[in-house]
Amino acid sequence: MKHKLTVCCGTTCYLLAGNRIDRLEQLVKQKFDDTIEVVPSACLGQCMKHNRDSEQYPPPPFVKFDNEIISNATNDNVIKAIKNRLS
Ligand code: FES
Repeated sequence: MKHKLTVCCGTTCYLLAGNRIDRLEQLVKQKFDDTIEVVPSACLGQCMKHNRDSEQYPPPPFVKFDNEIISNATNDNVIKAIKNRLS
């Protein structure tokens, strides 16, 4: 089964992460071959939750791996989260 990594390219995440999607695509391909499809997305809606209640909801930037939201999604955090999920 091919997994899907959805990278938020909404304004908040984009400003925090720049053009991370290009680098993430490279890293994901290096680490996991072609088992993960990397796709861009408009705002995933998570930034609004964080803005309303930063105590309860974690900080941007966000990506989604299959159906799981990953917050504070630096490249390193995303790769670690995927490894954990797949192990
Ligand atoms: S801009 Fe990324 S979740 Fe809203």
